[in-house]
Amino acid sequence: MRILRQSPTSHLVVACGSSGARLSAELGSGGHAVSYVAAGLVSLESVRSDATEIRDRLDSGELPPLRGFVGNAGMQYTNGLTETPDSLESTFAVNVLANHLFVRPLQDRFTAPARIVITASDTRFGDFRHNLGMVPGPVWHSPDVLARTGAFTGRTPRPPGAPRTRRANWPPSVSCTSTRAARPAGIDAVAYNPGFVPGTDLARNAD
Ligand SMILES: NC(=O)c1ccc[n+]([C@@H]2O[C@H](COP(=O)([O-])OP(=O)(O)OC[C@H]3O[C@@H](n4cnc5c(N)ncnc54)[C@H](OP(=O)(O)O)[C@@H]3O)[C@@H](O)[C@H]2O)c1
Repeated sequence: MRILRQSPTSHLVVACGSSGARLSAELGSGGHAVSYVAAGLVSLESVRSDATEIRDRLDSGELPPLRGFVGNAGMQYTNGLTETPDSLESTFAVNVLANHLFVRPLQDRFTAPARIVITASDTRFGDFRHNLGMVPGPVWHSPDVLARTGAFTGRTPRPPGAPRTRRANWPPSVSCTSTRAARPAGIDAVAYNPGFVPGTDLARNAD
């Protein structure tokens, strides 16, 4: 809403899951140009195909020059064992890889000045001030370990808070990889932390 308010001639492409059709209809109801790509961020193939669809629409001139990307989708799978069709751990796949893979095919289509914003989280600090005691501190493993299920199962049979440890681990990965992946001149890459936002669906799979 804010993007369209500030820049009413923008064409907003909503790449979203189940809520995307309703959301794009609402956003477009004021006469704004809004279209919708049914994005399934769990599967690598689906992410690539969504990004390629947008790239093709840019190349054909159907969409105006690309000025921004907002990677806000996120999920918190609580068991740390939920696998994607690519045999990756789902939280890592959605929260880290999907942003990276989505931006990559579009990387040379951004027209400066442009901005890439990835929603991150302060849970990476691991202290009470930042996580309010609800998310354990991060435990660093290399990405090839974090990308698979069972990265934390060596600690105890089912480590308390392990899945959320996974959550605490991902924000730095997101900001680092995105910043590195998208650095042509005039293209800003920003990690945005909204702070604690209760009442969202982020923990829909949590107890
Ligand atoms: N809530 C907090 O306290 C907090 C704090 C710091 C950072 N954040 C971050 O803020 C962002 C937004 O989260 P939120 O709290 O607003 O939760 P939310 O209401 O659940 O929003 C998450 C969004 O991600 C989409 N999504 C999840 N999995 C997807 C998938 N596999 N494919 C496509 N879309 C998918 C959801 O789409 P559907 O609903 O259509 O499935 C939903 O629109 C996340 O990146 C989260 O990590 C949240």
